[in-house]
Amino acid sequence: MTDTKITRLHPAPPVAGMPLTVDDLVELHRPRDRQAPRVRANFVASVDGSATAAGRTRDLGGPADLLVFDLLRRLCDVVVVGAGTVRDEGYGPMRLADDAVAWRREAGLPDHPGFAIVSSGLDLDPTSAVFTEAPVRPLVLTHDSAPRATRARLDEVADVVSCGSDRVDPHLLVRALVERGSPQIHTEGGPTLLGDLVAADVVDELCLTVSPNLEGGAGPRIVAAREAMALRGLALDHVLLSDDMLLTKWSRRR
Ligand SMILES: NC(=O)c1ccc[n+]([C@@H]2O[C@H](COP(=O)([O-])OP(=O)(O)OC[C@H]3O[C@@H](n4cnc5c(N)ncnc54)[C@H](OP(=O)(O)O)[C@@H]3O)[C@@H](O)[C@H]2O)c1
Repeated sequence: MTDTKITRLHPAPPVAGMPLTVDDLVELHRPRDRQAPRVRANFVASVDGSATAAGRTRDLGGPADLLVFDLLRRLCDVVVVGAGTVRDEGYGPMRLADDAVAWRREAGLPDHPGFAIVSSGLDLDPTSAVFTEAPVRPLVLTHDSAPRATRARLDEVADVVSCGSDRVDPHLLVRALVERGSPQIHTEGGPTLLGDLVAADVVDELCLTVSPNLEGGAGPRIVAAREAMALRGLALDHVLLSDDMLLTKWSRRR
């Protein structure tokens, strides 16, 4: 945070250009009611709308984006990620840094959030660090038609939960996580999973970083819904600025 200056543009701050502290950022992003189920998504996109650059998000982000990315993990009960993103981004175990753990203890939360991977084909390696070094036993959210043998192998390292007959139904996903004591649900993607969550209209909040880059059009958008759907109206919660990067937060108008 020391080298990363983030200021608030909207709502207009009392003093323009005043850098935000970590506490300010927590206040801007913390759930108002931890018991009320809420689904939040965090994405980064280039100015021309791409969710990737050369198949990854790494070159789109920056220090400010990373800071908020980490902060959102700190604030949630469970991080939900599609298996494509776990594979493409090379996810490791869902282990927070010491300062985040200290913050969570102070807030009366478990040291680390849960980690739920959404998958149909279950092409996930049970010997990977995602499972073997996880501070909290991960969840794999799948469906009744998932391959049985693979499911049995994953059962040894994760709680495998069916949330539908032939695809993970977002409403059943939310219900399963809430029933497990994780109402603050945070997804880091990817576009296929977000497409299903948006289509089911379960996304309450979107944190979107606009990366100061043009990608050219080869990459996906942040939402890859399988069918056309009605517009989902959003209200603008805030706009932050760090160098040329915009960090925005939007809430679903219900
Ligand atoms: N810009 C950003 O902020 C951002 C964020 C995250 C990811 N990404 C990028 O997005 C790309 C990956 O895109 P993606 O669309 O493949 O990501 P994804 O949504 O993470 O992964 C898709 C996979 O997740 C599983 N899945 C998702 N929804 C499901 C459902 N309702 N039911 C059952 N399974 C479901 C399936 O896994 P199985 O194949 O195992 O069945 C599916 O093939 C990567 O290049 C990554 O870098 C960008």
